[in-house]
Amino acid sequence: MGTLRALDGSLSSPAHGRPTFLMCPPKHYEVDYVINPWMAGNVHRSSRQRATEQWEQLHGALRQIAQVDLVEPQPGSPDMVFTANAGLVRDGIVALSSFHHRERQGEEPHFRRWFSESGFAVRDIPRVTPFEGEGDALFEADGSRLWAGYGPRTRVDSHQRLTELWGVKVISLRLVDPRFYHLDTCFCPLSNGDVMYYLPAFDRDSQLKIEACYSKKQRIQVGETDALRFACNAVNAGRTILLNQISDELSAELELRGFQIVQLDLTEFLKAGGAAKCLVLRLSELDVTHAERSPIAPPSQNSAYN
Ligand code: ARG
Repeated sequence: MGTLRALDGSLSSPAHGRPTFLMCPPKHYEVDYVINPWMAGNVHRSSRQRATEQWEQLHGALRQIAQVDLVEPQPGSPDMVFTANAGLVRDGIVALSSFHHRERQGEEPHFRRWFSESGFAVRDIPRVTPFEGEGDALFEADGSRLWAGYGPRTRVDSHQRLTELWGVKVISLRLVDPRFYHLDTCFCPLSNGDVMYYLPAFDRDSQLKIEACYSKKQRIQVGETDALRFACNAVNAGRTILLNQISDELSAELELRGFQIVQLDLTEFLKAGGAAKCLVLRLSELDVTHAERSPIAPPSQNSAYN
């Protein structure tokens, strides 16, 4: 990664020479309240022990291909494990999330502290225009555009701030199915330029925007069964994709396109409406994250907390 100057004049700071992501151990993970349809009926129904085992599987698999930094979990913030919602990172800047629901607003100061202590330039999104980070904003792998969801959580008028921050073209997509309340639950741009998505989660206008940018061959349409298994909630770094259990058909389709698929059991997190992607936030720049390379041995001292 070179040193880049953002439109607001700040310089990129944390130099990640290899793919790097942020996770938060599930020490305080719990379904404590209902802010999405997945949580309904699951309050206090998750197992902390199983969640920890599942999280460790994901953490271990991700460490095979990337550096994983950790943020300290905080009591009273059971959803903090879903670091994808902390903010959106590019050029050493983080657009810090401004959560829609009060239940998650307590996470903001903790993420703020972590980002500023880690050398990121922190930029705020005003409370009046909620924005839920990478949960609702995904860059095209080559960085040429930013796909931004709105509706259930993020407000469309927060997107303007993202355009100003990075001078990137933002394409706003309206989410219409409450089960797919964040963009990363139903849309996943892949490192090879393809996209995996669940079409009915978007309004007609947004469907057309997607079709205008990706050829038919580039579009992998996921069926409802896979969508409900959070297939689109996938962590992609280079040619590797980490996700919840998916159908053999979808797995074969992705393999055919040259991806190595790592399926994990993430059922405890589905109870809160999240899976692989929600548990992980990209910190390294896109070119570093998607650079072709062989699996990386986990470094010995790579996190802020262990
Ligand atoms: N319970 C959390 C919420 O509703 C889950 C967040 C999932 N994160 C995501 N990036 N989709 O806010």
